[in-house]
Amino acid sequence: MDQSRRQFLSTSLAGAGLLLPSTTHDWQLIVPADTSVALPPGQEPQQNPGKVPTPSARVAAFEKFAFGMFVHWGLYSQIGKGEWAMNMHGIKKEEYAKLMKTFTAADFSGRELARLAKRAGMKYITHTSRHHDGFSLYDTRGLSDWDITHTPAGRDLIADFSDGCRAEGIVPMLYCTTLDWTDERFNNDWDAYQEYLRASVKLLCTEYGPIGGFWFDGNWSRKDADWQEDQLYGLIRKHQPDALIINNTGLGAGGKVGHPEIDSTTFERGRPEPVDRSGHPKYVAGEMCHTLNFHWGIANNDFNFLSPAHVIEELCGCRRAGANLLMNIGPNATGAVPPYETALLERVGDWIRLHGGTDGPIYNGIATNIQGDERDFGLRHGEHVDLYLHDLTPTADTRAHGHSRGAGKRPFAGLPEKWKSAKWLDNGEELKLERGDDGRLILNATGYPYGTNTVVRVARLEK
Ligand code: GLC
Repeated sequence: MDQSRRQFLSTSLAGAGLLLPSTTHDWQLIVPADTSVALPPGQEPQQNPGKVPTPSARVAAFEKFAFGMFVHWGLYSQIGKGEWAMNMHGIKKEEYAKLMKTFTAADFSGRELARLAKRAGMKYITHTSRHHDGFSLYDTRGLSDWDITHTPAGRDLIADFSDGCRAEGIVPMLYCTTLDWTDERFNNDWDAYQEYLRASVKLLCTEYGPIGGFWFDGNWSRKDADWQEDQLYGLIRKHQPDALIINNTGLGAGGKVGHPEIDSTTFERGRPEPVDRSGHPKYVAGEMCHTLNFHWGIANNDFNFLSPAHVIEELCGCRRAGANLLMNIGPNATGAVPPYETALLERVGDWIRLHGGTDGPIYNGIATNIQGDERDFGLRHGEHVDLYLHDLTPTADTRAHGHSRGAGKRPFAGLPEKWKSAKWLDNGEELKLERGDDGRLILNATGYPYGTNTVVRVARLEK
């Protein structure tokens, strides 16, 4: 590590009470201290044996957001073949540029997006500010011609987005591509491109009020390039000290952290597993981003959508590992959210409201080593523990409804304390507890009452 970088890190990390690592590390950090899960093979040796780092305030707050909305929207949304359409369908720059003439953003509203996020129980939105096609949804103030000011939209959409979010109490975060298919500097003048990137991020830091986080994506496209991350992240720490810094590691590299300023690891379409954090120099959060079908930007012929049930299971699966779920939607050509996505997210919000609402256990439960059979797990929540039970569906015909375990005994390890009572969170019904011969706590799960099926059912234990 060179001297300037070391000094920069010393200053910024010392403020957060963190140790300075001697090299750049790749590490995987997901759950708090009391897990017994081992580090995966190939993990670096511990830097700080036995000690568990404490999260910075911004990381601790982020973990409690639990559920966020990812929005991929841009010129490509007019094509309706996903956000990679330009690249995958070999569309020439001159041809693609014509999309600027028809980009009206007539139905785009940051406030409406934020309202939908609220109904879904989401606490933040990460919106594309510029994707790999190089087009910026904000006024680049002359940095590039590929921006919103060269379209009929007639307004700065990142201003609309960030103001709209804050008006609804939703935290705005910005996705920023680092890969650029159209800016010639990306291929011809690397240093100039890095300066352009920094100038763009500086604008986003200084012109749009408080931003909750910056979500970079594209470093995976050039493994050996010098991304000059110290300078890029230094800008953010200077102008938006409370903002999170995230940089997508890409498919197949879920959970890796490169630069020491990174605040959260990413799991692109791959569910996080609980991992021991002890011995690492910095507490890093985890976030899984996921698509509702198989594209991020709208794809009119992609019918392969998730169901509300699947999203509920993904959300619970992420919380089991202490990670957030960042669920993507792709608005249409004019910026409206399609009806299926709207309905799906609202249905997930209904499930959250039935389970303690947006200040409830889904947000505040802490991932531990409480583990049931198959997908069952528990989260600690103050004096309580909430047990998350899967596959209680009474319909026994698996040909029609898939895997079902039905009502009955559900054992959980990691609960040695004495527990006085248990009840379903959705209807308050009391449940019997017993202790198994192997020491595990057994919850006698009743079946769903007729008229109910919550996919994942939550039982609360009380002392
Ligand atoms: C990948 C894709 C990109 C998408 C991102 C979201 O990096 O290249 O299109 O924005 O994943 O995680």
